[in-house]
Amino acid sequence: MSQNRVWFVTGTSSGIGKEIAKAVLKGGDKVIAAARNLDSIKDLKELGAHTLQLDVTLSEKQLSSLMNDAINVYGQIDILVNNAAFAIWGSIEETSEEETEKLFSTNFFGPLKLIKAVLPHMRSRRTGVIVNISSLAGVSGFKASSLYPATKFALEGLSESLKDEVQHLGIKVLVVEPGFFRTELASPNNMVIVKRTVSDYDQHYNEFDLTSIHHKQSGDPKKLAERLFDVVTQSGSAQGREIPFRLPIGDDAYPFVSSKYEKNLEELANIKDLTSGTSFQE
Ligand SMILES: NC(=O)c1ccc[n+]([C@@H]2O[C@H](COP(=O)([O-])OP(=O)(O)OC[C@H]3O[C@@H](n4cnc5c(N)ncnc54)[C@H](OP(=O)(O)O)[C@@H]3O)[C@@H](O)[C@H]2O)c1
Repeated sequence: MSQNRVWFVTGTSSGIGKEIAKAVLKGGDKVIAAARNLDSIKDLKELGAHTLQLDVTLSEKQLSSLMNDAINVYGQIDILVNNAAFAIWGSIEETSEEETEKLFSTNFFGPLKLIKAVLPHMRSRRTGVIVNISSLAGVSGFKASSLYPATKFALEGLSESLKDEVQHLGIKVLVVEPGFFRTELASPNNMVIVKRTVSDYDQHYNEFDLTSIHHKQSGDPKKLAERLFDVVTQSGSAQGREIPFRLPIGDDAYPFVSSKYEKNLEELANIKDLTSGTSFQE
């Protein structure tokens, strides 16, 4: 990738997205910072970002048109960061159809539409990086916030297929899996709290209360953003390293992901004999 890189980052009003935009500017690259509310990113504009009003739940046509506007700002987009998302606190059975659709529309269909919007540009230039911000919830399900992991698993599946589809075109895909970071994700303003109607699930809410971790998370989003900048630009702490496909990040991330992979392998080994013997006898 050339110098004078241009990044396009969604959900830059707070948390990880805002810090990524700042890290990009600090690193000397250009950033198009997108947010639903332009007032929330005035600070980024003052720092030198080009700001763009964008709700990721818009239609494919609208997002494609906004992406073309964004490409025209600097003549190129080198890195798309699908960061915008929200979390939900509720069991599967208690979550309404409307809540589920809004969650998937934001966390999965938004990134999908923006990927489709940027691909013609990246294909024509035979270069680009698509960064999808997943989660440890893209590696493991979590009871009582159950549909949030469902959106992140979908994003991981999309990313894995995309990686293989566009690799020969010079386009890379990076999935970031943050642990717990101190942002607005679990704030009462951003996280959707589902109406509780089934007391059978109370024990799950009591076991781990997602509403109580707000601003107590140990991860620093500024440090995540600076590491991500290094990884994508193959500089600083990632100098000379290939861009990986998956990047679990946070001091809680590596132990969590490795133990989940080990558990998956252990479960697979336990049922190995049940997996075969189902072919036609030809
Ligand atoms: N913090 C963590 O512990 C953690 C862990 C794992 C993964 N993540 C992931 O990290 C990413 C960033 O989250 P965060 O932790 O930084 O939370 P955050 O501070 O709540 O930021 C989320 C951002 O998404 C934006 N957003 C929500 N719905 C949108 C929509 N329809 N259109 C455009 N923007 C929208 C929000 O904008 P508004 O201000 O307009 O609402 C906000 O800028 C998310 O993908 C999240 O799933 C976070």
